[in-house]
Parts: sequence; C-alpha cells; structure tokens
Amino acid sequence: MACRIIMFYRYYVAHLRLCHQNIQILKPKLSFRISRASSYHYYHNLNPTDTQTNFPIKPKLSSFITDSEIEAEFSHHDPGVARINNGSFGCSPAFVISELQQWQLKWLRQPDHFLFNELHKGILKSRNTVKELINAEDVDEISIVDNATTAVAIVLQQMQWAFFEGKFKKGDAVIILQCAYGAVKNSIKAYFLRAGGYVIEVPFQFPVNSSEEIISEFRMALVKEKASGRRVRLAMIDHVTSMPSVVLPVKKLVKVCREEGVDQVFIDGAHGVGCVDVDMQEIGADFYTSNLHKWFFCPASVAFLYCRKSVTHLELHHPMLDRN
Ligand SMILES: Cc1ncc(COP(=O)(O)O)c(C=O)c1O
Repeated sequence: MACRIIMFYRYYVAHLRLCHQNIQILKPKLSFRISRASSYHYYHNLNPTDTQTNFPIKPKLSSFITDSEIEAEFSHHDPGVARINNGSFGCSPAFVISELQQWQLKWLRQPDHFLFNELHKGILKSRNTVKELINAEDVDEISIVDNATTAVAIVLQQMQWAFFEGKFKKGDAVIILQCAYGAVKNSIKAYFLRAGGYVIEVPFQFPVNSSEEIISEFRMALVKEKASGRRVRLAMIDHVTSMPSVVLPVKKLVKVCREEGVDQVFIDGAHGVGCVDVDMQEIGADFYTSNLHKWFFCPASVAFLYCRKSVTHLELHHPMLDRN
C-alpha cells in the first residue's frame, strides 16, 4: 500500500501543481479540470509484487487517470467543499481507507498472531519505504512515530537527560526561528528550558524578500551568541512553516549551523513529505520529522522520525516504553 500511496501522491501533487488554477473549488461536486494530456495514472500500473519488495520509486508512466476515478477516490468527502487544506487534517483516498480497514480486521481476527508475527515485519516494510522516499542511508535511521510533535518530544527528552546527567551545562541553548510551530515552542519550554536550557529565538517577519534575509538573520543570531560564549546544542528549523506557509532554505540553514558550530540540527518537516522533496543526503540534518497523514494520504496518525546514523547512539526513545 505504501507504494501505491507514493504513486498516488506524486500523481496528485503533480496535478495540484499543474492544475491549481483550474481546480474548481466550492462547487457542488469536487471537480478537477485536469489537462488529460498530462495526466498519468500511476497506481493502476503497479506490478503487485512491487508492494512486497523493493519497488521502483519512479514508476513507468503509461496511462491516464480520469476525473471520475479521482472523484471516486474522494467520494467520502463532503461534496460541497473541496478539501485542499491537508495541512490541518490530511485526506485519504478510498483505496487507503479500504486497505486500513483490511489491516484492522486482520488485527481483530487474531491479535496475538498479528502482534508477534506480522506487526514488526509490516513496520519494517514501512520504514524501508520511508527510507527510499527520503533518500536516507540506512533503515535504522527511520522510526515510525505518532506525529511530528511526538518526534520533537523524543529528541528534546534526550536533551533534557543530557542536562540532568551533566553532559549539557545550564545556559546551553537551542536556536529556533520566530515562526516555529506553537507545539514545538511549548515542547522546548517543557523539556529544554525547564532543564536549565536557554532559547534563542531569531526574529523576522514574513513576508521576506529572499531566502538570504532569513539566512543572514539566523547567522547573525548564532554569531552573537557564540561571541558571548554560549554553546548551541540544537537548532530547530521548520521545512515548511505553518502560518503563513513558507518553504525555508533548510539546506543552507543546516550549512550555517555546521559552520557556526551548532551541535545538532532538527528539521521540523511536519508538512514536508507530500509537499516538497525531502532528501536527507542533500539536507544534511541530524533529525528530520514529517507527518505522513497530512500531505501524503496516510490515515491519521502516522509520522516518521529520521535520526542520522551518527546520532543513533543517543539512545532516543519514545516517551512511552513497552516491555522490550
Ligand atoms: C510546522 C509544524 N510543526 C509541527 C506541527 C505538529 O504536527 P502534529 O500536530 O501532527 O504533531 C505542525 C502542525 O500542523 C506544523 O505546522
């Protein structure tokens, strides 16, 4: 299914981009006016064996998707509203919902068998899918988590322990941009600030004239703090900001962090996958999280946390632990 979702999202996002001017919103029926000449129907062409093993991320484009097929996939939506705000609550096409129901039944049929024999294999398959999707180096860099807020808590919790264990000193800092998401700011207060940390909030107002403006404000803040002898343990940077929605130059910001001696960089890509290309080799961050239930058609709630191989020794773990 993960494979089909990738195909579907590529198709769908490509068409939202291509056809955004032609999407007829707030019509009685969700009606996409799509140029058929450029409409490729990806997911019906999958070789079934592809979903079992490694699959080609870039499928062969061969046939067309039709308006009525799109309508059928989203016929469970309120027909009076075109749902294009996947940033708050994503939508799942019918084939995803149907697959979800199959898995729920599988679980209910024999929960013990499912837990001991199927679940971990299934999760590994999903982790491999995410690994390919974001060009990570190793599947061990990928964990499936509940949502982006959980991923943030997992990393900050580990930093809290670094203060308690004397690895971090009182006053060590995290740097964020003013536009950071509210839940992220609150998590920083709860885990980092309370443990003795300091928050550097880089001020700037949208709209900005260029990426360079953001990069230079960010660098200036780091240089100033460094000059005062402060150690910056973590940079927390949005990939796509929440309000307004702006794609930040994460690759360049990560580079600035490396040049200015920031220990670790976390990219909050809550809106990343499905919205923008995410390539971990290219971005170069230590941590990256993205929801899969916003722009990627997965049912809620599912996200991933990427931890670069070099930081997997940190013993990060979910706030809730099981017996293993
Ligand atoms: C930039 C950003 N970060 C984090 C989040 C938190 O995502 P979630 O509520 O799925 O944990 C959001 C939610 O929209 C967001 O916009």
